[in-house]
Amino acid sequence: MIEYRNLRVAVLGGGSVGSQVTALLLEHADELAARAGAGLEVVGVAVRDLDAPRDTDIPKELLTTDAESLIVGADIVIELIGGLEPARTWILKALHSGADVITANKALLAHHGAELFEEAAQVGAQLYYEAAVAGAIPIIRPLRDSLAGDRVQRILGIVNGTTNFILDRMDVTGDSFDNALAEATRLGFAEADPTADIEGYDAAQKAALLASLAFHTRVPLDAVHREGITTVTADQVVAARKAGYVVKLLAICERVLNADGGIDGVSARVHPALVPLTHPLAAVHGGNNAVFVEAEAAGSLMFYGAGAGGLETASAVLGDVVSAARRHVIGGPGVAESTHADLPILPISRVLTRYQITLTVVDEPGVLATIAAVFSDHGVSVEAVNQTVGAVIEGVPSATLITVSHEATDESLAATVAALADNSVVREVVSVLRVEGL
Ligand code: NDP
Ligand code: HSE
Repeated sequence: MIEYRNLRVAVLGGGSVGSQVTALLLEHADELAARAGAGLEVVGVAVRDLDAPRDTDIPKELLTTDAESLIVGADIVIELIGGLEPARTWILKALHSGADVITANKALLAHHGAELFEEAAQVGAQLYYEAAVAGAIPIIRPLRDSLAGDRVQRILGIVNGTTNFILDRMDVTGDSFDNALAEATRLGFAEADPTADIEGYDAAQKAALLASLAFHTRVPLDAVHREGITTVTADQVVAARKAGYVVKLLAICERVLNADGGIDGVSARVHPALVPLTHPLAAVHGGNNAVFVEAEAAGSLMFYGAGAGGLETASAVLGDVVSAARRHVIGGPGVAESTHADLPILPISRVLTRYQITLTVVDEPGVLATIAAVFSDHGVSVEAVNQTVGAVIEGVPSATLITVSHEATDESLAATVAALADNSVVREVVSVLRVEGL
């Protein structure tokens, strides 16, 4: 029996996600009301162009170009227009007027999250953003609520569907990066301008959000180390599979421990990495996403599914709508952002990782010892070496040497690569990739 008054819901944006959210709010109104404990009345859908085609049938009378009027008096505002402005201004206005806000806008949160969360805390409202990371996959609520009593040690995430589609395609078909990107564009996975995806900006925004939540520390976007996938070659992908790995673009958020096991700080990074074929993340194909969480008490958990898509993302938004409605019914302030740990944020040079380094070297007595000495001079221990005979170049035989290091700081590993590149026995540094998930 629903006794609470109807809650006024304003939807800002009627695009891929907004049109699906509106359709579900209208079609499932009774079910949602029963779950929320209050009826949800869609008071309008703000768009730019009233006549633009929509993915779902939004009643004409709900469409408006006057977003600001919709916000006034709304109990719940759903921001699905994307971009930084006017989304930021409208969310601030909605929070200021006491509405709970739901957004899928990772770019906005990564750039202006601190300001928006502070405004929400000031007025006792809540900012929900389940859809901002990994689309349909529930990962924000598990990190914020389900794992609130645990200590998250590390997160390895495939949080960008476009890049996973491209790398998977390169792996499965042997395509070059350019051909795989063209296919991703043809199938509608990649945007017309895919820069944010292939250069890792989108994943870095999501990494900043995940790290902030997981470590109860505000991790700003500019503290996230970022490398994209444009330099990954077909040869690297083929060689990876031969060696028992697959190349993935990973968002890695982790606690950095000191020698005594205490916490020095946290780090967040995005870069291509070799993932062992036996790791669950290696089985994430196509445009799917997955987030692998290692927590002190819970152990390893994996969250998997669609990282994008209008309807799929709408599912995550609707979950937030029901949470927001329940909060209105129950009363009390929203759950504020948790930043109590305030841990130092460390650069990538401080993280422990492993490198796989592929070299073409001259094949002469003593070369292996010379290479081993470069590793040991930098305090890096070699775990495995694989040598194959290569071509004779200008009368001198060459060999391909694939080395995988033990764990060392990224700083020592990078210095090792630089020293190898300068060494006269090395003809070429063919490939350098970090190895994660061992
Ligand atoms: P779309 O580009 O499909 O839709 C944007 C909507 O916002 C359109 O309806 C547009 O109006 C409206 N809009 C844009 N600017 C204004 C403005 N100034 N005033 C009024 N209306 C405006 O975006 P998506 O639905 O794809 O994405 C929405 C959000 O969800 C973004 O933050 C995105 O990052 C996030 N997201 C999207 C996913 C996806 O799969 N699409 C997955 C996960 C997150 P009009 O239609 O008239 O042009
Ligand atoms: N461009 C993003 C992706 C959409 O490819 O995953 C979801 O954030």
